[in-house]
Parts: sequence; structure tokens; C-alpha cells
Amino acid sequence: MMTVQSIYDLGLKMAIASDPRGKTVVRDELRRYKESYEKMSGEEKKYFDKEYFKNPYSDSRILNNPKPNQPIKRMFAGIDADEDELLLADRLGNIDLVMSHHPHGIALADLPEVMNVQVEIMHQAGVPVHVAENLLHTRMAEVNRGVLPINDHKTVDVARLLNMAYMSTHTFTDNMVASFFGDLIKKHQKKLYYVSDVLDLLMTIPEYQVAKQQKSGPCLYTGSPKRRCGRIVCTEMTGGTNGAKEMFAQLSHAGVGTVIGMHMKEDHRKVAEEHHLNVVIAGHISSDSIGMNLLLDAIEKKGVAVIPVGGLIRVKRYGQRR
Ligand SMILES: [Fe+2]
Ligand SMILES: [Fe+2]
Repeated sequence: MMTVQSIYDLGLKMAIASDPRGKTVVRDELRRYKESYEKMSGEEKKYFDKEYFKNPYSDSRILNNPKPNQPIKRMFAGIDADEDELLLADRLGNIDLVMSHHPHGIALADLPEVMNVQVEIMHQAGVPVHVAENLLHTRMAEVNRGVLPINDHKTVDVARLLNMAYMSTHTFTDNMVASFFGDLIKKHQKKLYYVSDVLDLLMTIPEYQVAKQQKSGPCLYTGSPKRRCGRIVCTEMTGGTNGAKEMFAQLSHAGVGTVIGMHMKEDHRKVAEEHHLNVVIAGHISSDSIGMNLLLDAIEKKGVAVIPVGGLIRVKRYGQRR
């Protein structure tokens, strides 16, 4: 039997296991949150989100849990599960939990914090850590100014009034897709010579086959299919949202040839192009679906029926080795 809490705990466990920074870095980060809490004044402690003691992913939270002991038999899972999906779940009457990949409420308000994950990812890709940190922190401040004016508790209010359990699993499952890609690239490394080989590899993944039928399949944002892909990194898969566009110069200088991402803003694309990178955009909703599917398989195996909504392309990988 699974409850909202045990589903959340399973997501957290899998997110830490697939964190691109590795378990030791995550453990150190959790320790630092605890230490900074201990040093806070009583007034500051009142406002500290103690969830950070065990969960470093600010954008993945239980947002409403009115019946903590209720077994979850059927759940909605969406890339975007908002007011509409909450109302639909209530109307159907047999849905115990609504899970949204994209965050709401406190999970959205605190999203910039999780971008710290990207510092280590860039460092691993070859960018000196002080440069990665400097560029990222400027961008985090920008993202923070972007999310602050959003009325991000509106959706949570609907969940509360409907008495519906509600959670966001953003970086939880983005870590899973990042790790999925890391393994995939490593496994096929020898066969990846041209950029077109990378695109062909993506097209072996069922979520991208469905996306292509929906006319949103993988595509090339800069570069050319017949160019050599060089060193491939998946720096645009997890860590909250798009990082700093100035990072592309650093990645190119560090010897990266191809960047795989879920989505990319136009001004970022232009900078990547200026610095001669190949940018393969796998697709936003389809890539988010891969991460969600990895978690949903584990939940479903524990006896919960999962109903895909909100754009989720549901593909099951039961019993398959990745
Ligand atoms: Fe995502
Ligand atoms: Fe997304």
C-alpha cells in the first residue's frame, strides 16, 4: 500500500540515486542546509523550510495532503497538472492523488535554489567551478526575479478546496531523465560519430517516437547533422530551468561539441551557435515524460494505477534493463 508520503519518499530516494552530482555531494549539501539552520536566529528558523534536511530539491514537494493515511489506489500524473486536472480528478471521483511534473506553490517559488545542481554538472563537463558558480548565480537571481511575481499558490488553493492530494516532482524526475541520458550516451558512445547519429539514437526511444507523431520530435537547433558530434554533454536536462547562456562559450572551450537539451530559449540558441556548438533538442514534454515514466513505473509496480494527463506521454519499461 502506498500513501502520498511513501510515493514522495520513493521519488526522493530515486532522485538522489540518479543525481548527476553523485550521492556524496548530495549528502554534503543536506548537511550544509542543516548547519546553516543551526546558525540561524529564532526568527530566521521560523521561515526555514525544514524539508531541506532530507530533500535538497526545492521544486519537488507535497503541496496538499489532506488525508495522510489514505492508501493511494489511483492517481493522475501529468507534466502539467493544474487547476483543470484537479477539477477533472474531483469530477471523476476515484482519483486519490494528482502529481504534476512542473511545480506549483512553494515548489515553484523556490525553484531557483535547485539550479545549484547545475554548478556541479558544468564542472563535470569541464567548466572551472568558480566560473560555473559565478555565471549560474547571476542567472539564479534573474530566475528568482522571474518567479517572484507569479501567483503560484492559486493551484494549491484549488487542491485544498477540493480536498485533493497534490504534489510536484520536478527535479525528482528530471534527475532520472538526466541519468537515463548519461547511461544511454555512455552505452552507445562508440557509435556516435556524426550529430545525425545522436538524433537517430534519440529516435529509438518510444517517447520521442510518439512526440514525432505529435509533430514535436527531436530536432537540431544549431549545427549540422553531418558534423562530428565530438564530446556530448546533457547539461540541459536537470537543475530547474535553463542555465546561463554565457556557459556555452565555456563548454565549447572545455571541448564540448554537442549539447543535448529538452528545450532552449532563442537567445541561448544564438550564443550556442556563435560558439560553434551542435545543439540537439530532444523535446520538452517528451523528455519530461521519460523522467516521470521512470518514477511512475516504480509506483505502479507497488500497486497504484497511474492515469496519464496533462501532456504526459506514458511509456512503461517494466522489467526492462536500461
Ligand atoms: Fe523537467
Ligand atoms: Fe519541463
